[in-house]
Amino acid sequence: MLIGTATSAYQVEGNNKWADWWYFERKGDLPYRSGKSCDQYHFYEKDIKIMKSLGFNAYRFSIEFSRIYPSKGKLNREAIEHYRKLVDLLRKNEIEPIVTLWHYTLPKWFYDLGGFERAENTAYFESYVEKIINAGIDAKYFLTMNEPVNYATQGYLMGEYPPFKRSPLAFRRVLVNLIDVNDRTYSMLKKHGYTVSFTNAMYGFKYPKIAYPFYKITDYTLNWWFLKRAKFDFVGINYYRAINPVSFRQHGKGEMNWTIYPQGLYYLISKAYSLFKKPVMITENGFASSDDRERSKFITSHFKYIEEAMRKGIPVIGYLYWSFIDNFEWTYGYTKHFGLVSFDKKTMERHVRRSAFTLKRIADKYRGI
Ligand code: BGC
Repeated sequence: MLIGTATSAYQVEGNNKWADWWYFERKGDLPYRSGKSCDQYHFYEKDIKIMKSLGFNAYRFSIEFSRIYPSKGKLNREAIEHYRKLVDLLRKNEIEPIVTLWHYTLPKWFYDLGGFERAENTAYFESYVEKIINAGIDAKYFLTMNEPVNYATQGYLMGEYPPFKRSPLAFRRVLVNLIDVNDRTYSMLKKHGYTVSFTNAMYGFKYPKIAYPFYKITDYTLNWWFLKRAKFDFVGINYYRAINPVSFRQHGKGEMNWTIYPQGLYYLISKAYSLFKKPVMITENGFASSDDRERSKFITSHFKYIEEAMRKGIPVIGYLYWSFIDNFEWTYGYTKHFGLVSFDKKTMERHVRRSAFTLKRIADKYRGI
């Protein structure tokens, strides 16, 4: 079983100057600046050493589209080389690379052309994917994109992420286009024998009986709508919390104030398996807190339900904790601490938290199984 952690390029690499987010951070339309983050772009060797020492055998990271194509038609070969080196080093350390091709941020030039709201822009994404395939990156698992429904909701319905729109029509357009983007990318990668999926932001429900119809609608649109339409080899579940389908208000725990509900993960895994009969990978699961003991409890209590699902015969092929290291939490900047590892903003020195050893114990138990 694959046990490890997950991150995304924009959140950990630092200095992704060619991305739309960077532009809006400077412009003042976003509340925080990502800046250098934990500079994983330069500190990846150190980070891989830590992963290895913790016995993790998987690492999910993303390739930053805007680094590969900083401007239209201009390929940055150095960046490709960087990701190739990163993957090679992971392999050398027997850590399975799980590569996300797109995690929220876009090159600014691609954004200017209308991003994924315009179907014809898909061709640019395809050339990017082609370059990555041709680079011969030594990975087995690829994720075409991260949380398409959440991306469309935050950017086109709630107006919280670029392009800050609140338009149900644009929201729908983006989702329809993203199914197409996923399916084309899927087919391109399948020709080369990769195992391919995407991740889904999925939610549990602790609902009072009276909320049943709201629960049904919310569950269908947020959890299953996209999955029922797009192509994939395994179900990628990003799970953090339960939501209230009536008020959507959170009264919860930790720095995000989320409703922690481990049983919700069991519901999602079993429903995903009964619907699709495909393996499941927990591509994200995490807790932001300054209380590291709470984080350990979070991991243990969620993993209990994964074990329960496996006992029932469901193939859960991986568990990736979000996140390896504290990072840029989008509109919350650096105020949220999801990491198993923290870092010193000045020296970039890493400190492994005790909760990392909770995951290590799980990794030790499941290695080779
Ligand atoms: C996203 C991550 C984010 C995490 C915690 C997930 O939905 O993929 O980028 O940091 O949630 O909020």
